Amino acid sequence: NIVPVILSGGSGTRLWPVSKPEHPKQLLPLTAELTMLQLTAMRLEGFDSAPIGRPILVANAAHTDIIDDQLRQSGIEDYLLILEPIGRNTAPAIALAALEAQADDALLVMPSDHVIADLPAFHAAIARALPLVGKGSLVTFGITPDGPETGYGYIQMGQSCGEAVHEVVRFVEKPDVANAQKMLAEGNHVWNAGIFLFRADAYLAAMGRHQPDMLAAVRTSMTQARRDGAHVFPEAMAFHACPSDSIDYAIMEREAHVACVPVAMGWSDVGSWDSLHAISARDAANNAVRGEALLLGAQNCLVHSDGPRVTLVDVDDLIVVVSDGDVMILKRGESQKVRKVTEALKSLT
Ligand code: GDD
Ligand code: MG
Repeated sequence: NIVPVILSGGSGTRLWPVSKPEHPKQLLPLTAELTMLQLTAMRLEGFDSAPIGRPILVANAAHTDIIDDQLRQSGIEDYLLILEPIGRNTAPAIALAALEAQADDALLVMPSDHVIADLPAFHAAIARALPLVGKGSLVTFGITPDGPETGYGYIQMGQSCGEAVHEVVRFVEKPDVANAQKMLAEGNHVWNAGIFLFRADAYLAAMGRHQPDMLAAVRTSMTQARRDGAHVFPEAMAFHACPSDSIDYAIMEREAHVACVPVAMGWSDVGSWDSLHAISARDAANNAVRGEALLLGAQNCLVHSDGPRVTLVDVDDLIVVVSDGDVMILKRGESQKVRKVTEALKSLT
């Protein structure tokens, strides 16, 4: 059985001010009519290479109602929702799902903040990965890089170990620019798509090797979990005590038994305003606009407004976002820096 595990607990801080703690980006319709969570939940429709089990979602308890509503609206009735009392990043979130699943379930871990345009290519990549999963590998999906992005994980691919599948020599999460450039120049490196496929027991074993404290805390929180229909509430004290880290740093950078399936599937991470510009429809001057805007001689700009009209006169390469009483302006290409804004705002309150 493949069990989809959908992660929806991130706060999407780099898409501030549209993405805010009460409505993070994955719960918003950023790229289509449907929200990114709905698009993710429907992503395996039509997959026919293996039976699909009941999906498990892992999210913050503050979003319970909005997630239930969005799933029901897209016709998804049979799912399990694990509700975290607080975010402890992706490594513990995935462990909650792994403990809930059967040991031999193949967990397909999917972030809820991506666009995948070519679903048949995605389905074919999963089918190619399945034999490796049976052997206990942690399988990653590799995207051909198109620049020295620092917001992604990088995978150095080694020998081929099947049809279009590779052993992984090294996994490097979020390198600095110099290191990213070096890896691109070397070749053989792909971006980590952030999607993983592994048996539940293989993931828990890797966590036991590399993060025993994390595994112990998650285990305690799940043995003492409260259940209410389709909702599972891990015990809060134990989960609070869990160390916080991402699967990429906590497990993938340290684990030897990793494989990679390279795949071209029209993937993009809607992680920043720059990536949203890159995947949006643009006019002849390369401007992407959502909301009301008057562009006079502007080029290569992104405008996103939830109300006020934005007027740009003879400016290039700007990102202008108006949302919910906030206005933010920054240079295109610099949108990773929005993290600074959310950090600065935290220290204000
Ligand atoms: N349930 C839960 N709890 N989900 C979480 C939590 C948490 O505490 N933190 C993050 N998530 C969810 C996010 O909502 C998102 O869907 C997914 O987990 C990934 O987290 P991000 O915070 O978006 O990670 P990232 O984009 O910085 O990096 C990851 O994705 C890149 C590709 O987009 C890494 O896997 C990189 O290696 C990868 O290249
Ligand atoms: Mg992301």
